[in-house]
Amino acid sequence: MKTKLGLVLIAAASLWATTAVAEDDKAVARTWKSKCGSCHGADGKGDTKQGKKMGIADMTTAAWQTEFTDAKVKEVIQKGLSREKNGKQQDMDPLEKELDAAQIDALIKHLRTLKK
Ligand code: HEC
Repeated sequence: MKTKLGLVLIAAASLWATTAVAEDDKAVARTWKSKCGSCHGADGKGDTKQGKKMGIADMTTAAWQTEFTDAKVKEVIQKGLSREKNGKQQDMDPLEKELDAAQIDALIKHLRTLKK
């Protein structure tokens, strides 16, 4: 009897843990969409109106993913950027006041899952 109850509890706990992880994934995907998606696209390909206007790169390529280390990604999220490249004005707002360290880390992890 005791072991049966134990098993039920373990099963319930692991089910709860899996659901919690799935919820986290959904939350970060939502943050990505609302904070990054308008320019970079939900899929990170930059295939958006803003992306075309500003010449935004495809983040899903292996080359991009290698060039932009976690540290570089973190810095640009916090500090933003404003520059001209190939005749196009590129602007990204700094988000250090809006996103805390945990949210930024979660976004970076999410970004790595977009790699094709
Ligand atoms: C207002 C539009 C806009 C939003 C919103 C935006 N970005 Fe950007 N981002 C840009 C532009 C423009 C560039 C420069 C072009 C490029 O490198 O593709 C850029 C570049 C980057 C780069 C590469 C940095 C570099 O030096 O080229 C990273 C990493 C990045 N963005 C991450 C993010 C993340 C993560 C979010 C969401 C938290 C986000 N961006 C939100 C416009 C935006």
